[in-house]
Amino acid sequence: MNHVEKKRLVVAVSGASGSLLALDLLRQLRTSGRWETHVIVSRGGQVTLEHEIPKNREEFLALADVYHKNEDIGASVAGGSYKTEGMVVVPCSMKTLAGIAGGYADTLLLRAADVTIKERRPLVLVARETPLSPIHLRNMAELAAMGVIILPPVMGFYHHPRSVEDLVRQITGRIMDVFGEEAEGYTRWSG
Ligand SMILES: Cc1cc2nc3c(=O)[nH]c(=O)nc-3n(C[C@H](O)[C@H](O)[C@H](O)COP(=O)(O)O)c2cc1C
Repeated sequence: MNHVEKKRLVVAVSGASGSLLALDLLRQLRTSGRWETHVIVSRGGQVTLEHEIPKNREEFLALADVYHKNEDIGASVAGGSYKTEGMVVVPCSMKTLAGIAGGYADTLLLRAADVTIKERRPLVLVARETPLSPIHLRNMAELAAMGVIILPPVMGFYHHPRSVEDLVRQITGRIMDVFGEEAEGYTRWSG
């Protein structure tokens, strides 16, 4: 039998608004058939998921190939020798962003991000807050200088979005681009 090994990606959800972004990413990664997702949801992420997409709770869980509890600091993705292609925090709260910037790895989510940085793997933070304070901007600048990709879910209009789903898919497309994957319906600028 022709067995193709899937690539592993850590997909973490923290308590910023935008759980739909995580759901769309997980849907697209599942559709591609090439990814094994390792999902971690923070305490804040549980609250926003429940508030923003309560009807998709079961679907969300079913889309996680491996679901890790945030308290499980001994999980596979807590170790650098466990191979992954990188990690996405989507959406990323300012608290989680501060925790990553400070290296304060007291949860699995923060530890996995810490590992991703130390192993020099791509770490994408879909940082969501508005307006941004000097503290937020300082933490983002520090992380960006280390090579972390700060990818705020900022709306674009050049692709003529007709729905929230269109706007969300553009962000999913930008995230997947980092990992060499194409999202369905993602519109690229071609001049
Ligand atoms: C409905 C809701 C929306 C929120 N949106 C944001 C947000 O967009 N950005 C942010 O930084 N925090 C937001 N928060 C606050 C965070 O959830 C809170 O700071 C929490 O402690 C983050 O913890 P975590 O990063 O461990 O998930 C929101 C909270 C709720 C309940």
